[in-house]
Amino acid sequence: MASLGVVPFIFVLLIVECAARPFYPLPSKVEHKTRQPLQTFRPYNIAHRGSNGEIPEETAAAYKKAIEEGADFIETDILSSKDGVLMCFHDVTLDDTTDIAEHKEFANRKRTYDVQDANTTGYFIVDFTLKELKSLRVKQRYPFRDQQYNGRFQIITFEEYISIALDASRVVGIYPEIKNPVFINQHVKWPGSKRFEDKFVEMLKKYGYKGSYMSKDWLRQPAFIQSFAPTSLIYVSNQTDLPKIFLIGDVTVPTQDTNQSYWEITSDAYLDYIKEYVVGIGPWKDTVVPVVNNYSQTPTDLVTRAHAHDLQVHPYTYQNENMFLHYNFSQDPYIEYEYWINKIGVDGLFTDFTGSLHKFQEWNSPLSLDDKDASALLHKIALMLSKYRKK
Ligand SMILES: *[C@@H]1O[C@H](CO)[C@@H](O)[C@H](O)[C@H]1NC(C)=O
Ligand SMILES: *[C@@H]1O[C@H](CO)[C@@H](O)[C@H](O)[C@H]1NC(C)=O
Ligand SMILES: *[C@@H]1O[C@H](CO)[C@@H](O)[C@H](O)[C@H]1NC(C)=O
Ligand SMILES: *[C@@H]1O[C@H](CO)[C@@H](O)[C@H](O)[C@H]1NC(C)=O
Ligand SMILES: *[C@@H]1O[C@H](CO)[C@@H](O)[C@H](O)[C@H]1NC(C)=O
Repeated sequence: MASLGVVPFIFVLLIVECAARPFYPLPSKVEHKTRQPLQTFRPYNIAHRGSNGEIPEETAAAYKKAIEEGADFIETDILSSKDGVLMCFHDVTLDDTTDIAEHKEFANRKRTYDVQDANTTGYFIVDFTLKELKSLRVKQRYPFRDQQYNGRFQIITFEEYISIALDASRVVGIYPEIKNPVFINQHVKWPGSKRFEDKFVEMLKKYGYKGSYMSKDWLRQPAFIQSFAPTSLIYVSNQTDLPKIFLIGDVTVPTQDTNQSYWEITSDAYLDYIKEYVVGIGPWKDTVVPVVNNYSQTPTDLVTRAHAHDLQVHPYTYQNENMFLHYNFSQDPYIEYEYWINKIGVDGLFTDFTGSLHKFQEWNSPLSLDDKDASALLHKIALMLSKYRKK
C-alpha cells in the first residue's frame, strides 16, 4: 500500500515541474540559425524605451526585460555625446532621468540652448563625452513607478543596444529613432563633415541591418528607422532600404526640420508623397482618438486614410497606469488594447508595458495555438493536482 501512494505523488511532481515552465513562448538558448522568427501575423509589440514601466528607460536591463516579456521590437532614441558617440537616450537634457544633479564635478555644465524653437535649460547630453556619460546612472522618469532600480544602470550606446537585440535567443527587432536631428547636427561635428544621419546608418550597416520590409535580410535582423523629421527620413532613404516610420506629434507641434503643421503632414497629398520613403506612420494616439476630459472621442480618419495609402500605423504610447488610461477603458489596459487592435486596427503599438501587451495578444491571437492549448491544459491539470499536493 505504501509504495502505491508514492507513484501518484511522483506523477504530481512531474506535472507540476512541466507546468512550471513558462506559460507563453519565451526565448530559449538556441542556435542562431534556428532562432524563433519574428511573428508577423499580428500587430507588433514595440517595447517603448524597453520595459520602462518597470525598469528605468533605455537601459540594458529595461531592454533585456522587454525581450523576456515578449517584445517583437525594442525601441530606442538615438542622440549623440559631445565626442560623437551615438547614445540611447530620450531627452536632450540629462536632468530628468539621471543622477546628474548629484555630480558636483559637472555643476558648471548647465546651459540654455534653443531646442525646436524653445529655450531649454539643463545639462545637455551633447556637452558630455562618452566617458562622462558613463559615470552617470539612470533613474525612473515617473515618481509613481518603481524607484528601486534608480542609480543602478548606465546610459548605453547605440552599439550596446544593437548587441542586446542580436544576442537575444529569438529574433528581436530594433526600432531606433533619429532623435532631434536638427539640434544634434547643430551641436555635434563628425570628421569628414558627416551628418548625424550618416553616422546613424553607418552603425546599422556595421551590424548587418539591411533590406526592405519583409525581405529575407530584414526578417533575419528586423529594424524600423523612425523620426519626427521628414528630411532625415528622406536623406537616409538614399543610404538604406530598411523600412522607415514617420512619427507624428501633437496637432500643435510643427515638424522640427520643415516647420510643417500637423494638418499639412497628415493630408492625403502629403501621405502620397511620404509613402515613397516610409512604410508607415507613428502618430501620438490622442491624434487618432481625440480625448476630452479623459473620455475618448470619435476616432479621426487618420488610420483609415493611412491604410488607404498602404501605410502601417504604429501609435504611441500605451501605459498601464490610471492617469494614462481614458475612462472609457475602465482603468483596464486590456480593454484599451482590445479597442486599438480590434476596433481601430493598428499595425503596431508602442507600449511601456510589453508584458501586458504580450499577454493580451497571447490570449487573443496566440503565436502557436497547439502549443498554447497543450500548455493551458497542462497548467489546469497541475493546478488541480497541486491542491492535493499541498494537503
Ligand atoms: C531665447 O532666449 C534668448 C536670449 O534671452 C532670446 O533672445 C530668444 O528670443 C529666446 N528664444 C525663444 C524661442 O524664446
Ligand atoms: C540621393 O543620392 C543622389 C545621388 O547621389 C543625389 O543626387 C540626391 O540628391 C540624394 N537625395 C537625397 C535626398 O539626399
Ligand atoms: C513656422 O511656421 C509658423 C506658421 O506658419 C511661423 O509662424 C513660424 O515663424 C515658422 N517658424 C520658423 C522657424 O520658420
Ligand atoms: C467614451 O465614453 C464617453 C462617455 O460615455 C462617450 O461619450 C464616448 O463616445 C466614448 N468613446 C468611445 C470612443 O466610445
Ligand atoms: C484627466 O485629464 C487631466 C487633464 O487632461 C489630467 O491632468 C488628469 O490626470 C486626468 N485624470 C485621470 C484620472 O486620468
